[in-house]
Amino acid sequence: MYYPDELIEEIRAKNNIVDVISGYVRLQKKGSNYFGLCPFHNEKSPSFSVSASKQMYYCFGCGAGGNVITFLMEYENYSFPEAVKALAERAGVALPEEDSREMKKARSRRARLLAVNKDAATFFYYLLRDRKGSVGYQYLKNRQLSDETMQRFGLGYSGLGGGELIRYLRSKGYEESLIRDAGLGSIDERRGLSGKFWNRVMFPIQDINHRVIGFGGRVMGEGKPKYLNSPETEIFDKSRNLYGLNHARTSRKGSFILCEGYMDVIAMHQAGFDQAVASLGTAFTAGQASLLKRYSQEVLLSYDSDGAGVNAALRAIGILKEAGMTGKVINLTPYKDPDEFIKALGAEEFQKRLDNAENSFFFELEQLKKGYDLQDPQGKTEFHRSVARKLCEFSDELERENYIEAAAQRYQIGFENLRRLVGRYAAQTGLAQPVIRPKSGIAEKDTSREKRLYNEKLLLTWLADQPQLYPQIRRFISPADFSEGISRTAAQRLFADLEGGRANPAAVVSMFEDEAEQREAASLFQVRLPQADGPQGREKAFHEIVCALKRQSYERDCADMGTDVDALRRAVAGKKLLEELSKTHISLQ
Ligand code: UTP
Ligand code: MN
Repeated sequence: MYYPDELIEEIRAKNNIVDVISGYVRLQKKGSNYFGLCPFHNEKSPSFSVSASKQMYYCFGCGAGGNVITFLMEYENYSFPEAVKALAERAGVALPEEDSREMKKARSRRARLLAVNKDAATFFYYLLRDRKGSVGYQYLKNRQLSDETMQRFGLGYSGLGGGELIRYLRSKGYEESLIRDAGLGSIDERRGLSGKFWNRVMFPIQDINHRVIGFGGRVMGEGKPKYLNSPETEIFDKSRNLYGLNHARTSRKGSFILCEGYMDVIAMHQAGFDQAVASLGTAFTAGQASLLKRYSQEVLLSYDSDGAGVNAALRAIGILKEAGMTGKVINLTPYKDPDEFIKALGAEEFQKRLDNAENSFFFELEQLKKGYDLQDPQGKTEFHRSVARKLCEFSDELERENYIEAAAQRYQIGFENLRRLVGRYAAQTGLAQPVIRPKSGIAEKDTSREKRLYNEKLLLTWLADQPQLYPQIRRFISPADFSEGISRTAAQRLFADLEGGRANPAAVVSMFEDEAEQREAASLFQVRLPQADGPQGREKAFHEIVCALKRQSYERDCADMGTDVDALRRAVAGKKLLEELSKTHISLQ
């Protein structure tokens, strides 16, 4: 960690989360919490809550949660040290000189990579508007982009040779190695540093805070590659960014349009469809899906209408499903992509296609249908069978029924027949779960581990809410009973605080530096506690959770006895405690 833990904790404690978040979100007090519209996803009624006592926030809609530091990280897209620094300034806490060499290097490294990209973008931008850039400007004009659109997307021209940019960046004092590491040039033993982009119109790629993290450059006319892109760098992760999201995330349209190309995004925005984004010359990823999900649940796909586009759409549908989002597919025929469609038929016609976007399930079925000869009874039967098999994907009964009905109607299959067929396939595959899982690389959930973790979360959340319960359980439960990793580390810290008489979950979150870890740590304190009736019901529920957790830990020790000498000792002690615990009354008063 860059700053000492105590200092981070001091800074966190001096920034009341309610005050800080009030600067971004209009909050209203309701009971002991504050509520507002979640800034991390689109919503109409407030499900974003801030707790003054816990100094944490949590959104019941999208699950975002954390402390004041993670809020700034997420909202401002700050790194951990950047967020700490901003909060230190806000609270008037002096930070030590950047004595840690490593920190200085890391911070200034990121900052310098961003700076060199920004300067490159500025250079390209002015060149496009210069006499020397008139070929580029003319090219974009011919593609019917207005000056305003070119400006909004920061479009530029790279210069005839690659050398001009390099000379410019050198004159600004950037080292050659930095220019190379930013992906703007390459170093050759004989020729030295040469620019990557030449004679191309340039599309700066920005993160959600409009910072330039890379470029795409298009040849004007024919030539290969059509688009040359920045490589991935320390600041440019293609699987976690989307072109156009810096504008689209504030769109009021309520869903996204996902397409393939830079020009598609720009053409759509120019036509008023400011919800359009594109994946960055690579396939749509789970990381991009979760980025979109912060703002909207629904994605309309407008991939090219050629074979590759259809396949890409099918894959994207799988990824969206896996992320718990809904997908629809826009039909662009007879045009190739949104850019060409809008050019030919205009915004109104495009809007109609959006309104008629097809449910992704039927899009998949339509693609499936192409593989069968429906004139032939045999082919038809086989198609109906695969429809039935595909319907098994719906694990929710009501949803499945609805789709069976719709599919029966659409393909003129007898409803009861289809239903029976689906039932049969479902039974054959032992199905309560979806049979066909989209192949996006996310592993099946390990249920026993999940369940264990869930009990751990319940106990941690409960103790954070009611620290006075701790003295009654401390004899039975220790951090060693928690799963190794974030859960155990968090328990160690929370229990240490509880020994001193108070819970401080917000402090636990900032012990972790990695954003994903912080999110996981925050989630430990944010599960919904059982809503049992009356004090007795709640007491029983609490007792059950403590017992379950102890039993899990005991069972784990039993399983480990063969390989871990300490496990035997722990198991023996655990068994005794477990018996005692089952006879002990824990009072919630
Ligand atoms: P397309 O080949 O469909 O081009 O590539 P396009 O978007 O219609 O481009 P225009 O209209 O001819 O200018 C779709 C996307 O795939 C990536 C780019 O992000 C492009 O926008 N791509 C394509 C590359 O990265 N490199 C290439 O050589 C081609
Ligand atoms: Mn195109």
